[in-house]
Amino acid sequence: MTIVVFGSINLDLVVEVSRLPSKGETVIGNRFFSAAGGKAANQAVAIAKLGTPVSLVGQVGGDRFGQTLLENLSNAGVNIEGVTVNPHTHSGVASIVVDEKGDNTIACAAGANNLVREEEVKKFRGLLSQSKVVLMELGIPLATVLAAAREARANNCFTILDPAPAMSNLPDELYRAIDLITPNEIEASQLVGFTVDGVTTARQAAFCLHQMGVKNVIVTLGSQGAFCSSATDSFWVEPISVSVVDTVAAGDAFNGALAVAIASGKSLAEAVRWGTVAGALAVTKNGAQTSLPNLDRFKQLLAQTFL
Ligand code: RIB
Repeated sequence: MTIVVFGSINLDLVVEVSRLPSKGETVIGNRFFSAAGGKAANQAVAIAKLGTPVSLVGQVGGDRFGQTLLENLSNAGVNIEGVTVNPHTHSGVASIVVDEKGDNTIACAAGANNLVREEEVKKFRGLLSQSKVVLMELGIPLATVLAAAREARANNCFTILDPAPAMSNLPDELYRAIDLITPNEIEASQLVGFTVDGVTTARQAAFCLHQMGVKNVIVTLGSQGAFCSSATDSFWVEPISVSVVDTVAAGDAFNGALAVAIASGKSLAEAVRWGTVAGALAVTKNGAQTSLPNLDRFKQLLAQTFL
């Protein structure tokens, strides 16, 4: 397998409304749908859809949702030998509200995701020996993420951390163990302790993250593009203008395509462009995995935009 993804698998329950509700308010929407989601599952599907072999390590519950999620992953071409079915809990569920502008709020019940333990990293470590890139997010316990990062390093894999859902005070060891971190504005703000809302503050955040021990930083800024920084270089990648329908999983599409580019030996600059193209395509469609681009759509926009 070229890429191994560690992290969360959810069933998304999505309600579409004209505007997001305020605290204590009920807003009546018109449409409901359920779809396969979870950040790591989305990232794995994004990678598979771009034609790259990928394994997922995670857990689903012993419920009907779990079976549906497994079938979906398998049909998408993701190797699910590292996904455990835990009969003692429910599958992860995400309650998602999407407004007319495509913005969203998400609340998750972690369920089985919270029970992905370090033992599972050990159990499935064999997957890493053939892998070039390991991609991780924070929808599973932090101790497990750290164990996966150590294992990735021991196998000389390039390690990417998508620090989502947003969290502050990540362990120093984690920063030092990874090769690349990819926060969005909210996640970057939590990590560095000040507001990140544009290229200037993204540059300052990248500086702080380098000080914490991360080699490469990409701060994704939504409609403002992405700011990238390595030990030798820093640059900004322009956003691609598209009609936004639903921003759910845009970050997952970005991280998936980024991982594919790095696994194929592309430079960081090129990898960010690949991520930007996949993220832009994902916001033009509804849902999480349903919005992820296939290789043809991806290649077409990449050629139109950057070649
Ligand atoms: O990144 C989008 C994902 O976040 C959704 O699919 C949902 O499951 C939440 O984890």
